[in-house]
Amino acid sequence: MNTTSKYSELVQTQHINTAGTLFGGTMLAWLDLAGVKASNDFLKQTDAWGVVTRAMDKVEFKEPVFLGDWVNCESTVIRTGNSSLEIEIKAFAESKDHGHRLACTANITFVAVVKDEKGSLMSFNHNLSLNEEK
Ligand SMILES: CC(C)(COP(=O)(O)OP(=O)(O)OC[C@H]1O[C@@H](n2cnc3c(N)ncnc32)[C@H](O)[C@@H]1OP(=O)(O)O)[C@@H](O)C(=O)NCCC(=O)NCCS
Repeated sequence: MNTTSKYSELVQTQHINTAGTLFGGTMLAWLDLAGVKASNDFLKQTDAWGVVTRAMDKVEFKEPVFLGDWVNCESTVIRTGNSSLEIEIKAFAESKDHGHRLACTANITFVAVVKDEKGSLMSFNHNLSLNEEK
């Protein structure tokens, strides 16, 4: 079974760049968090402590996002490895003024981790495939 996880943010004044639109770095952070949410949902029955971001690929800023828009992210696990999982994230922007549109997309690879006795993070083999989510 594979499900879509959801994560939303509201664009406020502190998120706006000098062009008057959503700062791309803020969008990247939100995509990352949306991917973390999907990863944590997927790994919830395992002994993983959490995940860390390993690679961000195929990031596309398709449409500008404006003050007052909601950014609604939908994230899906599309590939699993031993410790890694790749998440496809679609960020839809929405407001009365600007309507509903696909604003940004990315594929992000996360690595499941545990902490060793010193508190350092080590990769963790989650043993999950897309058909074997526990
Ligand atoms: C996570 C970490 C502890 C794992 O180290 P490691 O055990 O040496 O393993 P690697 O990172 O080389 O590889 C782990 C997985 O990532 C995959 N990977 C490595 N580089 C990759 C890339 N460029 N793109 C996609 N996947 C990649 C590997 O194939 C492996 O997958 P698998 O276990 O499913 O086969 C270490 O990479 C790390 O600390 N990275 C920094 C993470 C970080 O600080 N992120 C930002 C803040 S969250």
